[in-house]
Parts: sequence; structure tokens; C-alpha cells
Amino acid sequence: MDDHLDNLKKSYQLDIESAKTLGELDKLFLELFGKNGKITLFPKNFSKLEKSELKVVGPLFNQTKKSLESAIEERREEIKLSGFKKILEEPLGLRTVNSAALKKIKTKKRQGHMHLVTQFEEEIIRAFAKLGFSQFESPQIDSDDYNFEKLNIPENHPARDLWDTLYIESGGKSLESSEKITPGKLLLRTHTSNSQMRIMEKMKPPFRQMILGRCYRYENVDARHEHTFEQFEIVYVDKGLSMANLLYLSEYFFQAIFGYDVKARLKPKYYPFVEPGAGVDGLCIFCKGKGCKVCGGVGWLELAGAGMIHPTVLRNGGIDPDVYSGIAWGFGLGRMLMVREGIEDVRLFNSGDLKFLNKY
Ligand code: PHE
Repeated sequence: MDDHLDNLKKSYQLDIESAKTLGELDKLFLELFGKNGKITLFPKNFSKLEKSELKVVGPLFNQTKKSLESAIEERREEIKLSGFKKILEEPLGLRTVNSAALKKIKTKKRQGHMHLVTQFEEEIIRAFAKLGFSQFESPQIDSDDYNFEKLNIPENHPARDLWDTLYIESGGKSLESSEKITPGKLLLRTHTSNSQMRIMEKMKPPFRQMILGRCYRYENVDARHEHTFEQFEIVYVDKGLSMANLLYLSEYFFQAIFGYDVKARLKPKYYPFVEPGAGVDGLCIFCKGKGCKVCGGVGWLELAGAGMIHPTVLRNGGIDPDVYSGIAWGFGLGRMLMVREGIEDVRLFNSGDLKFLNKY
């Protein structure tokens, strides 16, 4: 099988190098990587192999795949460039060939990339998907019930001051709510926790869900506060969960995105829908606990909010708190990215500032 791979690589490498047009290259690409391509179908043979053989063939296959892919990509650039050259070298009036510009074309990488926050979202989803979490969507325009009431935050309760809320009103009256949203004053969700009750209503425990999305607050915008921002949250309900699981999840996540030397710690913090509630600190990624300007000399940075889902909330969602317990854990993407990437002003995320974009 190793020989087979070797021959495949050699013969296709020759074909790729001698391809003259982009069309020819596309054909070769499909022969290898199309639906029935030789590389695409190759792993089908793996099941016939002994473990020891697989140890040799597996890496060889990956290597062959990579090198053919990059050979095609390189040749594609060469063909493109020779096309440009042809056009540029054609005598046309006063136009002269600018060889410096040609060199530039050759080395130019593809421009543009996903927004930093979008890239981060993918990282987060990948990390938690590995632990069996699936994505859940909850509406950005929601009722007071889901955003507050059912989360153990009744009207006029002082805890509402934790969230500066944007209510949606029409002529002084609440808008009629759609079928999906139970009656109640409409608002722009202040946190992804509005998903908690929807998940509990829809699913029977045990479940592991994650929610990513926009949230809105009536903020005075400054370097650390935006009115529109992204939050991430997990809602995890099972038998026998405890703060130990919560600490584990926190550490797992910090290490996935900051590096293996970042520890997590919990400290008491109040959120009405969890009991106990916790502020989740990560060891400061700059000073590794020694104390620096970023962490204000503490050695730790508060990166997330979390807790064991309050029995009242579980009950509101039809779950028996004597049988099941739940973990809710969430954070703001912007804040965490600011720490990781050394971004000083949260407003830059939506500014389209080219200086900022070039840096990343
Ligand atoms: N929803 C909280 C906030 O926006 C964060 C949080 C999520 C806290 C999950 C505890 C559990 O401030």
C-alpha cells in the first residue's frame, strides 16, 4: 500500500507540474480530491490493515495528500502568474513591464480573513463540541419572561440592575409578541442565559448545550463597554454534577484557548439564576500569577461567570432539582479576546479601522 501511495504521488506530481491551463489543473484536482477521487476514497482501505501497518500508512497518506494539495495550489499560482505576465508583457502603447510589480504578485497571499470574533467563535465551538456539547439557538428579541422572570429575577427585583436592559415598546405599549415568544414585555436579550429555560422546556436531561450569540445592553459605550456584543454560554444538566465539574470545564476551556499553563479558580459571585454562583478567574496570561498591570497586581483575571443552576430555575424548567443538577457557564467574547490579543478598546471590534485590521 505504501508503494501504491508513492506511485500515485509521483505520477500526479508530474502531471501537475506539466499542466498548462487552470482547466487541466481542475481536472487533476477532481481526479484526486473529487467525490470519487483517488485520495478521497483511499482511506476506505484502512479497515483491511493491521494496526502496525496503519501506523505507517496513515501518516504517509496524510503527507501525500498534503503535498499533492500544495503542488496543485503552487502550480495554480504559477499558471495565474504566467497569465498575468503574458498580459503585462504584451506591448501596448506606452505600457512597460514592471518587474517589481510582477514579483509582488507572485508572493502576494490571499487577502482578507474572517472577523476575529468569528474565528474565535469557531475555536470555542470546536473546544466544547469535543466534550459533547451541541449548539442551541435562542432569540435575540425575547420576552421579559425568558430573559428574567423564569430565571429567578422577578420584576422590580434589585438584581435587574445587573443588566441595563433595552425594552422594545411601541407607543408606550409592549409590541404584540409572536407565537414563539410567550407574552410578556419584549426586550433585546441582555445575555445568552435567555436560552436556559428554552432548553429545559425542549429537552429531557441529561443534556449538554452551548449557545453563542449577540446580546444587547443600554450601556454608556467606552473602551470596555459596548451596547452590542457576543456572549457564549453552556447549559449542562445531568445527575451528580458539582462545582468540581464546573472548575474542570473552566480549566479545559482556558487551556484550549490560552495555553496549557493557564489554571482556573472560582470565587463567590452573585447571579440570581445560579446557586452557588461563581466568578471564574484564569491565571493572568501575562504574568502567570506574579501580578502585573493587566491583572492589577492580583495575578488572576476574571474571565467568566458561572454557577450551579438554581433549584427554582430547574423547577421552572420542569426538572426535579432533587434528581438533577445543572451547570451554567458563560462569558463575553470581546472581553476574552481583548485579553488574549492585547486589544485595548472594545470599540475596535466594530470599527473597520484598517490599522487594527492589519495587525491581525
Ligand atoms: N448571564 C450572565 C451575564 O450575562 C453570565 C452567566 C452565565 C452567569 C451563566 C452565570 C452562569 O452576566
